Amino acid sequence: MDKLLIEGNGPLTGDVRISGAKNAVLPILTATLLGSTASRINNVPHLNDVTTTMSLLGRMGCQLTMGDNMQVEVDPSTINDYAAPYDLVRTMRASILVLGPLVARYGQAEVSLPGGCAIGARPVNLHIEGLRAMGADITIDGGYIRAKAGRLKGANIHLETVTVTGTENLLMAATLARGQTVIENAAREPEVVDLANYLTAMGAKIQGAGTSTLVIDGVDDLYGTDYTVVADRIETGTFLVGAAASRGKICVKDTVPSNMNSVLDKLTEAGADITIGDDWIELDMHGERPQAVNVTTAPYPDFPTDMQAQFCVLNAVASGTSKITETVFENRFMHINELQRMGADINIDGNSVTIKGVERLTAAPVMATDLRASASLILAALVADGETSVSRVYHIDRGYERIEEKFHQLGAEIRRASD
Ligand code: EPU
Repeated sequence: MDKLLIEGNGPLTGDVRISGAKNAVLPILTATLLGSTASRINNVPHLNDVTTTMSLLGRMGCQLTMGDNMQVEVDPSTINDYAAPYDLVRTMRASILVLGPLVARYGQAEVSLPGGCAIGARPVNLHIEGLRAMGADITIDGGYIRAKAGRLKGANIHLETVTVTGTENLLMAATLARGQTVIENAAREPEVVDLANYLTAMGAKIQGAGTSTLVIDGVDDLYGTDYTVVADRIETGTFLVGAAASRGKICVKDTVPSNMNSVLDKLTEAGADITIGDDWIELDMHGERPQAVNVTTAPYPDFPTDMQAQFCVLNAVASGTSKITETVFENRFMHINELQRMGADINIDGNSVTIKGVERLTAAPVMATDLRASASLILAALVADGETSVSRVYHIDRGYERIEEKFHQLGAEIRRASD
């Protein structure tokens, strides 16, 4: 198993290019199943979760072609198997995203029920209830969701909790249903909007993307199209926080600044000087230590849970005391114990942590527990004295493209080694 070795060697400086968004490309790849012809998806990041999704589509019988330049072509017309087996779903919960497209277009699906994971119980009851409301017959049996349906019918669905992949599954299913579907309390995340844009380019009729009410008028057919995936706002935020914590100056390129407002507001409050262009963000700390900032996570447009761990690191080396509250997942503080081992002064109390900033952290061997926790450990290592080793790097390879290369480009001393 690989580990990353990182020397805390001063501020991050320089430019870095942002990849396509993991949480947009995964639903877009599964949405290709809805088309009667092939789609070409551009700006696809090289990530383990993308490889897993492609394996899943390949096992179903889709034809996949990789282009030279971050392109993937998916031709769903040869599909002959409608299952997402346990061995793939357990490595990637987002496999659940095949459920809506399979039921809507092929009238059948067998998808392993994802279990709990390192950040919470993460049930999928709202995905199932929504599909049932659209007329699917769904049973849970032997750890599998087994769904059958004729043509789905439009429904009024009120999601009791804002769910990103739940909204995406129901949105995809509704595009081919007979009649109108209204999804209330829908997720407003930019990744949901990107999926809606792709579906619209395929011929879907969707109104309200980016608001909490989606109105979808079902169509008879959708067609493959050429589509470019939006930039990853969490990767963008991760590099910006790395620069802020290390008192650096960086420019992130090929990103979408307007998707970053809540994170940029907090970085400004922490003392960062931020300049925004059409598709770039420059952050300059002018060599100063960040100020502690309070953060509460909540669905978009509020502060993203996927940036919570990184802000724990920023606050761990900031001047002052801060409180971070996690409201989206019940168990997303696994990184705190590792940060404490690096000298961070943090107390956990229920779904909040109180952090008293220290000048520097100290290197230690630490272990990644989930994707964003791993990212936070790399950031912590950048502001620690000595060499930190972060093990179980496979978590980070699920969602960050060429992470060590990109940090290296910003001046970090970081290398990969095997255990
Ligand atoms: N929930 C339910 N029932 C459901 C679905 C969700 O109770 O049927 C609850 C969850 O337990 C959780 C809350 O609703 O407490 C929100 O979960 P959501 O469904 O929005 O999460 P998700 O769709 O499984 C996506 C991202 C996550 C990101 C969350 C929140 C993808 C593939 N994953 O997960 O990304 O943290 O939304 O923004 O889009 C990551 O990239 O590291 C990651 C974990």
